[in-house]
Amino acid sequence: MAATSEAILGLGLCSKKSNFLVSSKHYSGYRNEKVKSLRRKCYNVRCGPNVSSDRFRSLSCKCRKIESVSDAVGEKVDPFVKGELSANGNGAFSSSLHIGGVNSIEEEAWELLRASMVYYCGNPVGTIAANDPSDSSILNYDQVFIRDFIPSGIAFLLKGEYDIVRNFILHTLQLQSWEKTMDCHSPGQGLMPASFKVRTVPLDGDDSATEDILDPDFGEAAIGRVAPVDSGLWWIILLRAYGKCTGDLSVQERVDVQTGIKMILKLCLADGFDMFPTLLVTDGSCMIDRRMGIHGHPLEIQALFYSALLSAREMLVREDASADLITALNNRLVALSFHVREYYWIDMRKLNEIYRYKTEEYSYDAVNKFNIYPDQIPPWLVEWMPNKGGYMIGNLQPAHMDFRFFSLGNLWSIVSSLATNDQSHAILDLYEAKWADLIGDMPLKICYPALEGQEWRIITGSDPKNTPWSYHNGGSWPTLLWQLTVASIKMNRPEIAEKAVKVAERRISKDKWAEYYDTKRGRFIGKQARLFQTWSIAGYIVAKQLLDNPDAAKILVNVEDTELVNAFSCMISANPRRKRSRKGINQTFIV
Ligand code: GLC
Repeated sequence: MAATSEAILGLGLCSKKSNFLVSSKHYSGYRNEKVKSLRRKCYNVRCGPNVSSDRFRSLSCKCRKIESVSDAVGEKVDPFVKGELSANGNGAFSSSLHIGGVNSIEEEAWELLRASMVYYCGNPVGTIAANDPSDSSILNYDQVFIRDFIPSGIAFLLKGEYDIVRNFILHTLQLQSWEKTMDCHSPGQGLMPASFKVRTVPLDGDDSATEDILDPDFGEAAIGRVAPVDSGLWWIILLRAYGKCTGDLSVQERVDVQTGIKMILKLCLADGFDMFPTLLVTDGSCMIDRRMGIHGHPLEIQALFYSALLSAREMLVREDASADLITALNNRLVALSFHVREYYWIDMRKLNEIYRYKTEEYSYDAVNKFNIYPDQIPPWLVEWMPNKGGYMIGNLQPAHMDFRFFSLGNLWSIVSSLATNDQSHAILDLYEAKWADLIGDMPLKICYPALEGQEWRIITGSDPKNTPWSYHNGGSWPTLLWQLTVASIKMNRPEIAEKAVKVAERRISKDKWAEYYDTKRGRFIGKQARLFQTWSIAGYIVAKQLLDNPDAAKILVNVEDTELVNAFSCMISANPRRKRSRKGINQTFIV
C-alpha cells in the first residue's frame, strides 16, 4: 500500500487515562479512508522512573524488553520478567503457586491472566492468546484474538475491572473499518478481525519516543486465509455483557458503537442466494479455524448469530433509520429458531424418523425436505444416542446432515435460547449420559467423534494437526468449561459444571494450562498444544466465578421473549411435518 494512503489516525499524545479519540465525527470520516494500521504517537510509552501504578510498573518492564528486540512484538509480558514464575532444570517453568489447593489454582490463574494483558498507549486493550516462553514457534499466538478474549473479558467484568473490556470493545470497533484485501478482493465492511497485535516501534525521526500500532488480521495473514465470522458476533455478545454488568449503557449508545452493531448486522442479514435462514460460511470461520468439513451452516455460527441478533435487538437505539433493520432482524430470529429447532435436532425419536425417511420427495409438503438419505446415519450414532437426551447436529445442507456433536454450538444454543427448554435439558442429559466421551479426563470435547481414516484424509485434507482425537478433530479444550458453566447454570443444573470443573482441577494447573488435549478421553496434553493458553486460564476463572455467583450468568444468557415464542408456534403449526398445508408460511412476523 502506498505511503500516502496510510492515514495516521487519532494523532495526539496518549494520555494514561482511557482516551478514545474516535468521536462520532471522526468515525464517519475515517470509514472511507485507506488505512493500514492504527497509529498513535506515544511519547510516554518509553517509561520513565516516575510511573507509579502497578500497571505502569509492568509496562516499564515491557518497555525495557521491547527495546531489546528488533520487532517489538505486542506488549507480551514475560512471566519470568514479572518474577512470578521460575524456571526448573529442564527449562520448563512452574509457578510458585502450583503447590496447594483449589484457591491457589485460582490465584495462579489470576496472576497468569494479568500477565497476559496487552497494552496500547498505556491502556489495557486485550489479552495475548498464549504466554508460553518455552515455545519457540509463536506463530500468531502473540496476538489478541477476539474470540479468545471473550472469557478474559467476562472474567474482568465479573471482577469489577471494566476498563480493559471497554478499551477492547472500542479499539476493535476501530479495526472494523480497516481496508482489508486478499489478492485485490475485499470482504464486506463490518467484518471484525480474527486478531490484532500491538506493535511498539521507534517513532520516525525522534529517538526519544515510540509509537504504538494496532495491527489487525482479518484472515488475510491467517493460516488458510479464513474470514472470522464469529468475531463480530462475539463482539456484540461482549458489548451487551459489558452494559449488563457495569450498568453503563453509554458505550453501547455511542453513535460509533451503534454504527458498528449495524454494520455487523447488515453483513449477516444481507440477501444472498440462500434458501435457509442460517448463515452460510466457509470452513474454518469460527473457533475451528481450519479445514474440518464445517463449511455451510455450522451450528456454532448459528448459535452465536442468534445470540448476537437478540443482543443487538436489546441494544439498538430505536429510530426511524433503523426500523427496516430491526424488522429484518426480527423476521430472521423467528425463521432461524424455527429452522434450527426443527431440522438440526436429533434424539432417538428423530433418528428413527430419519431412518425411515422416504427420499426424492418433490413437493411443498415434503417431510424429508433436505432429501437426506437414511444411509447417512453413521453406525457410531446408532449405538451412541442415549434413550434420554439429544443434541443439535453440526451442520445441515441439501442431502447432508453432519451428525457430529459440537460442544460450543450446543452449549451456546442453550445459552442463547436457540434450543427450546426441553432441548436444552436434553443436551445436558446427553452430557451426563456420555460423560466419559464428552468430559473424559479433561473437559471438554470440541466435537465427537473424530474423523478417521479416509474421512480424515478427504475432509481435513490429511491435516497433520487435526489427526484423529487431536486439536479440532475430537480434541478436548479446557476453555469450553465456561460455556458449559453458563449453560448448566441457565438450566438450573450447575452440578454438571461443578463436576466438570473438579475434573479439570486435577490437572489444569499442573499441565500448565494447556490449550487442548489429545486422545479419546483427553489423557495427553495436545501434540502441538500451547502452554499457558490464556483462554484455558480465563475459561477456568469464569467457570469458578459463575459457580460462586450463578446470578452473574445473566449477563450472557438470552431469555426467549413471549412474542418470539408465539411467532414460533405459528411457524410450527404451519410446518408440513405437523400439518400438510402452506397456510401461514409466508406470514411476516413483526415482533
Ligand atoms: C487456534 C484455535 C482458535 C484460537 C486460536 C488462538 O487457532 O483454533 O480457535 O482462536 O488458536 O488461541
